[in-house]
Amino acid sequence: MTDIVQKIETAVSYIKNIYSETPLVGIVLGSGLGSFTKEIEIEKEIAYGDIPYFPVSTVEGHSGKLIFGVLGGKKVVAMAGRFHYYEGYGTQEVVFPIRVMKYLGIETLLLTNAAGGMQKGFVVGDLMIITDHISQFTVNPLIGKNEKAFGTRFPDMSEPYKKHLIAKVKTIAATAGYTLKEGVYVAVTGPTFETRAEYKMLAVLGADAVGMSTVQETIVAAHMGLPVFAMSVITDIGIRDEENVITHEEVLEAAKEAEPKLAHIFKELVAQL
Ligand code: HPA
Repeated sequence: MTDIVQKIETAVSYIKNIYSETPLVGIVLGSGLGSFTKEIEIEKEIAYGDIPYFPVSTVEGHSGKLIFGVLGGKKVVAMAGRFHYYEGYGTQEVVFPIRVMKYLGIETLLLTNAAGGMQKGFVVGDLMIITDHISQFTVNPLIGKNEKAFGTRFPDMSEPYKKHLIAKVKTIAATAGYTLKEGVYVAVTGPTFETRAEYKMLAVLGADAVGMSTVQETIVAAHMGLPVFAMSVITDIGIRDEENVITHEEVLEAAKEAEPKLAHIFKELVAQL
């Protein structure tokens, strides 16, 4: 067994000793979205720091634990807090929990993030279904020897965000009377927010929203054949006329306000899986 598979299996067996049930869905909560866990009937919580080989989250707004419980009648595992490249973690650390959740048995991965909006008409608080991504400004987590146990050397990326999951979410939102945006998410390393010129450049390249997470997680999920649905909360507007600055506090606040809608959508989606 290779080093990475061994580490994953060590982490998984530690977790299984504490919580032996198999979660059907994995959920990653982005900046300011941690209180979504209130929706989960919690059965067990495990601090990242207790799990062998798990990195530990440092950024404000990320509490750093795996939450096991029931959402929409289904067993789920939620990551309250994720690992970002800008915190200094290596790419393999950023994606480690995704691989662990896959080995725990999840069949679907739901990702959330806070993102800067660039598409015309976006306003703070919008929810954007991620239909596709641009990964070229971050390190691809599959660089290095291919781990056959995970998947193929050259994974297809024609549909990283599954259309059947997007279709379900659109129906759920329509029924609830929510208007959702959709678009392309571009990942950057951060931790700086973009300059005005950079927001414009990213929009010209075809991105509708920009953020510092999600894409590396989606790539390893695709590699392992794990279906992904991802949603951005638009927490600031990159392309704008005013001279206002963007702050992390504003991002957290906007995410918190959009959270109830996101929570409803995810709960309904999980119920339908
Ligand atoms: N840029 C990059 N990452 C972000 C932003 C942004 O404007 N907002 C929230 N995360």
